[in-house]
Amino acid sequence: MAITALQVLERTLRVTWDDGGAEEFHHLWLRDHGVAAGDLHADTRERVVDFHALQPDLRPLEAELEGEETIRVVWSDRRETRHDGGWLRAHTYAPGRGTGLGSAREPWRAEMVEHLPFFDYREVVESEAIQLRFLRGLVRDGFSLLTGAPSAEGEVERLAGHLGYLREICFGRLRDIRVEPSAYNIAFTDDVVKPHTDLANYAWPPGVQFLHCLVQEASGGETRLVDGLAAANDLRAEDREAFDALTRVEVEFQISNRDYDVRAASPILVAGPEGEFKMIRFSNQARRSFVCHPDLVEPFYRGYRRLSELLNDAGNQVHFRLAPGQILAMDNHRVLHARDAFNASSGRRHLQIGSMEMDVVMSRIRLLERKLNDRDTRTA
Ligand SMILES: [Fe+2]
Repeated sequence: MAITALQVLERTLRVTWDDGGAEEFHHLWLRDHGVAAGDLHADTRERVVDFHALQPDLRPLEAELEGEETIRVVWSDRRETRHDGGWLRAHTYAPGRGTGLGSAREPWRAEMVEHLPFFDYREVVESEAIQLRFLRGLVRDGFSLLTGAPSAEGEVERLAGHLGYLREICFGRLRDIRVEPSAYNIAFTDDVVKPHTDLANYAWPPGVQFLHCLVQEASGGETRLVDGLAAANDLRAEDREAFDALTRVEVEFQISNRDYDVRAASPILVAGPEGEFKMIRFSNQARRSFVCHPDLVEPFYRGYRRLSELLNDAGNQVHFRLAPGQILAMDNHRVLHARDAFNASSGRRHLQIGSMEMDVVMSRIRLLERKLNDRDTRTA
């Protein structure tokens, strides 16, 4: 992106682009984000310069344009760096310009049911371009649906092999969801399962959950999804104090049986530096005790009550029936899932679930973007 003006100020360099936009970059930030001779390892391109080796009062001796898009700076330590105008524009540190998942996510409500993001399983496996669309949809909407997958056990593992790899958890790599005689989790009964994120009992719950429908013969048992991002945004707009309490109170979650007892204490919501939503961990069924500062108890319960209302409000949910051969992929740090009650005596219902880290998905997206020369600055 072409630069039209540079101005060295006391502590910053002011850059103006040809679209009229302008931003100030602190000298130290600019030097830290530039590359001078000896800063990087010659082979690996990893950083080898120690930050404490940079002068804290470093400032430009010269700053000039090389062509239209490159800034050349000679620093007070006589080192020289070059900065690309387009890269700087994409990395302005103005509020709300954070990198990562946040800028690629788009909140939704019940109207989403009119355009459920279905993808053909075979196309996603065989076409890299369609696989990229499927994965970008998972990041943007927090869920994507595959249709036409084999109704065979282990298909989640085979799908994962095309994208990356699964994360193993206490259940193993795959977990069957069907009625079990000695259930220790509501999912293994035919009772209603309210909106929740999976595996809230882990210090770092899996970022992506795959839910593969193999058999759906019983009456009832429809799936509901709700966007935790939209609900958290509503709560923050309505009651900032309550929202903040949910980011501060560490609540313990637990899943245990005879073979394991996995617990973690963590806030219900994680927010970024501007208070923006980053992550939700919500499982009323697995929620246990918490202790916190007395001043936080009332705002916490106010926030938890309102968040629970928003997540259980049908006006915020999409509602559909998974069919055999369909795989639901969910951003488990954002979208909550629920299941209506079903009648186990009316027929069988069998699903398999598997977990993956969102890092694996994002890595796959970047590799596909590189290969297909189809870049998106939000995931770069
Ligand atoms: Fe679940």
